[in-house]
Amino acid sequence: FGMTYILAIETSCDETSVAVVKDGQTILSNIVSSQIDVHKRFGGVVPEVASRKHVEGINFILDEALREANLTLDDISAIAVTYGPGLIGALLVGIAAAKAIAFAKEIPLIGVHHIAGHIYANHLVKPLQFPLIALVVSGGHTELVYMKDHLQFEILGQTRDDAAGEAYDKVARVLKLPYPGGPHIDRLAKEGKPVIPLPRALMDDSYDFSFSGLKSAVINTMHHAEQKGTKISQEDMAASFQEAVVEVLVEKTMRAIKEKQVKHLILAGGVAANQGLRSNLQHVCKQLDVELTIPPLALCTDNAAMIASAGYFYHIKRKWSTLDLNGVAGLAL
Ligand code: KG4
Ligand code: ZN
Repeated sequence: FGMTYILAIETSCDETSVAVVKDGQTILSNIVSSQIDVHKRFGGVVPEVASRKHVEGINFILDEALREANLTLDDISAIAVTYGPGLIGALLVGIAAAKAIAFAKEIPLIGVHHIAGHIYANHLVKPLQFPLIALVVSGGHTELVYMKDHLQFEILGQTRDDAAGEAYDKVARVLKLPYPGGPHIDRLAKEGKPVIPLPRALMDDSYDFSFSGLKSAVINTMHHAEQKGTKISQEDMAASFQEAVVEVLVEKTMRAIKEKQVKHLILAGGVAANQGLRSNLQHVCKQLDVELTIPPLALCTDNAAMIASAGYFYHIKRKWSTLDLNGVAGLAL
């Protein structure tokens, strides 16, 4: 067998990214251009602005990814691209670019699910070992997934309202912290004490999550304090909120690990950067003798290398897309 070089494109949200990965595991390049500074002044991602920025950047970033990998399009085995879920206008920019290359070079086109990508970020660190449980926590997703083998995803639970990262960002806004607020709350939480009572939506009969009640409780607590003229420490609120989120995430993940009797847990998505979540999971995994893998930060947040890694497994299973591939904003895993 020769080497398989997958070129992947990821434009589902506010990162324009192109990567080249060899045999699903070795990153030759992974260029990520974040639009965060553009969206920051609006306090969140503006879909129309995101699409336009992807259009402006995609060709340059494609060139950059090939140059860094020291390859040309003639060396590429297949093109992988995120086709959902995400912002439809943003997805379409990456899909159009991927189709053009696949058509011109007569190589396979592979539509990849964004969450599959987040999960396969772990494969770039260490080959996935099955069966496993994946906890995917990002600005757009909160999913607990069970995998028996490659590309076999069974969703055990997901959020019924806000995603974990979304809850962080919304609470951060209430605490007057800059967007995206997750890292700021994480930092403040270390300096505070979790002394403010906040609810935990555990829903014992389900693996689903719900964070909107917690968010509302933070808003109400801040509001009441303001009315009474008392002051609530930002640090204590951050610590209390973080403890509530982490407790629920860890509790459900551990329940899934026990029920499915798995020995491998992988963490994925931007919220995997959270120190509270990391140390808590590390602690309980050690107790249960479960191996925990957490990708480095650059692979936790949106990037094309993770799409290339997932794309590699679609490729070797000949799960190719046709050139009429379309973006699907609410694509199911
Ligand atoms: O995976 P990602 O880059 O984009 C999506 O696909 O959504 O995740 C971004 C999310 C944001 O909501 C951000 O606030 C959150 O991840 N985040 C964090 C931390 N770092 C990033 N949340 C909590 N603690 C952190 N340290
Ligand atoms: Zn993502």
